[in-house]
Amino acid sequence: MPAAPFNITTIYFLPLLTAFFIFQQSHARPRAPNSLVLGLTQSRNILPTPKLPLNSVRKPSETFDMLEPLREVRDGYLISLNLGKPKQVIQVYMDTGSDLTWVPCGNLSFDCIDCDDYRNNKLMASFSPSYSSSSFRDSCASPFCINIHSSDNSFDPCTVAGCSLNTLLKDIWTCTRPCPSFAYTYGEGVVAGTLTRDTLIVHGSTPNITREIPKFCFGCVSSTYREPIGIAGFGKGPLSLPSQLGFIQKGFSHCFLAFKFANNPNISSPLVIGDLAISSKDLLQFTPMLKCPMYPNYYYIGLEAITVGNISATEVPLSLREFDALGNGGMLIDSGTTYTHLPEPFYSQLLLVLQSIISYPRANEVEARTGFDLCYRVPCPNNTFADDVLPSITFHFLNNVSLVLPSGNHFYAMNAPNNSSVVKCFLFQSMDGADYGPAGVFGSFQQQNVEVVYDLEKERIGFQPMDCASAAVSQGLHKT
Ligand SMILES: *[C@@H]1O[C@H](CO)[C@@H](O)[C@H](O)[C@H]1NC(C)=O
Ligand SMILES: *[C@@H]1O[C@H](CO)[C@@H](O)[C@H](O)[C@H]1NC(C)=O
Ligand SMILES: *[C@@H]1O[C@H](CO)[C@@H](O)[C@H](O)[C@H]1NC(C)=O
Ligand SMILES: *[C@@H]1O[C@H](CO)[C@@H](O)[C@H](O)[C@H]1NC(C)=O
Ligand SMILES: *[C@@H]1O[C@H](CO)[C@@H](O)[C@H](O)[C@H]1NC(C)=O
Ligand SMILES: *[C@@H]1O[C@H](CO)[C@@H](O)[C@H](O)[C@H]1NC(C)=O
Ligand SMILES: *[C@@H]1O[C@H](CO)[C@@H](O)[C@H](O)[C@H]1NC(C)=O
Ligand SMILES: *[C@@H]1O[C@H](CO)[C@@H](O)[C@H](O)[C@H]1NC(C)=O
Repeated sequence: MPAAPFNITTIYFLPLLTAFFIFQQSHARPRAPNSLVLGLTQSRNILPTPKLPLNSVRKPSETFDMLEPLREVRDGYLISLNLGKPKQVIQVYMDTGSDLTWVPCGNLSFDCIDCDDYRNNKLMASFSPSYSSSSFRDSCASPFCINIHSSDNSFDPCTVAGCSLNTLLKDIWTCTRPCPSFAYTYGEGVVAGTLTRDTLIVHGSTPNITREIPKFCFGCVSSTYREPIGIAGFGKGPLSLPSQLGFIQKGFSHCFLAFKFANNPNISSPLVIGDLAISSKDLLQFTPMLKCPMYPNYYYIGLEAITVGNISATEVPLSLREFDALGNGGMLIDSGTTYTHLPEPFYSQLLLVLQSIISYPRANEVEARTGFDLCYRVPCPNNTFADDVLPSITFHFLNNVSLVLPSGNHFYAMNAPNNSSVVKCFLFQSMDGADYGPAGVFGSFQQQNVEVVYDLEKERIGFQPMDCASAAVSQGLHKT
């Protein structure tokens, strides 16, 4: 967490100061930590996932729903994992773009390489298996062990040592050895460790109800490259948190608080898991989840058009709603990527459309400093924020679903108003290397103040603009 501006008394300045961290973060090159954006060029889960033995997935009772508070930081949303006996609390990113849940493990031995950019987050907490009476290492007969070694990931120690998936599969019923160490790749990062099982305590949707999930399987990670904080995987694969808890045929929903609440300890974004997340949602517009042959465990949606302000919708390339023969294309919806990424040349065309209708002066020096491509100095009478003077952006997804991005999700104030003006930057980015993997990514910054419902039963994703701060208050996630 960046040095938090808690000494500032009015909430009014909080967004301005926290915005500062965005451009620090983006100084060298805008990037999305924990994202798949670049990493899809390093394959994972390429091989078909072996089917789990039927009895391996625990199903909590049908009526148990979860409500977990998510803490907002500058580049994502953190979930607190209560692991072990006695419980150790570790905060990790909530990531719909991956499956594995992992925590930094062993406070003496955890080693994060090239993490200087992230260290100032000061979020590092590690899990010590030796202090937990219920911790044990997963065995090589575990379906999770097969799953994590089933990608053709060249960093995988098992692959390096020549222990092929076939070797593991051959003695799946008789093997008693520990599961071999794994390596798991992300956008720019890699994590390496061992699969561990321990008790996970989760929160029910009614106050003060918790539930113990015994033998939850996660990565006990001893070394990483550019991944200083753990991750909770919310993908569709067997290792993911919703899968292991028996919710993969149901769903989950989240309502991400606006960026002005980043690092505010008094309010959290609601994450609901279970029936409650998907029932009584008939008012929402739903777009189908697309089946990506290359990455079947992640969530893809189809983007048809984008409307800027009140001018007619701009068609987007087919690649944002269709896959090629290899499975490249589609739009990934990913809470682990901060900003929305669009492919070239469409991204540049969108910038031109914006430039053609916005007549405010460009703030070139802010563009140079932050790496964002379009920043404007917009009037701000008396240095107070007025209604948004910049055009709205509407996404049109498959099935006639229109989502007008809430104000503050597309252009964001990068500094305090000064001399009756404020610099706002367009927080979208160009997709690098979009010819492999997804063509675009719908990132968490653009999902703020929207209820996003992952209806896994009906394989669809619903959107509804919502004041997530009010939602947090009504769900008891606001300290008074
Ligand atoms: C390791 O972590 C445990 C629990 O968090 C703590 O009690 C212990 O002092 C730590 N050891 C070192 C060397 O930091
Ligand atoms: C939950 O627990 C807290 C403290 O333990 C208590 O003050 C509160 O009344 C409880 N709430 C409910 C609904 O039981
Ligand atoms: C959080 O609440 C405490 C106690 O009410 C208050 O002193 C503090 O300023 C609040 N922090 C923020 C960032 O709103
Ligand atoms: C579009 O919006 C602008 C102001 O934002 C307005 O002047 C113009 O009349 C609108 N055009 C249409 C066709 O509604
Ligand atoms: C700015 O402040 C002045 C004096 O306080 C006031 O007369 C004026 O209406 C304000 N303008 C806006 C746009 O709020
Ligand atoms: C799409 O939705 C709009 C309103 O959002 C509606 O006017 C239009 O008729 C719908 N089109 C179809 C084909 O359902
Ligand atoms: C306001 O902007 C002027 C130049 O436009 C600059 O010199 C000054 O430092 C800025 N003040 C603040 C508080 O940022
Ligand atoms: C403030 O804005 C006015 C009008 O845009 C400009 O003339 C003046 O130079 C600006 N002052 C500073 C310090 O930037």
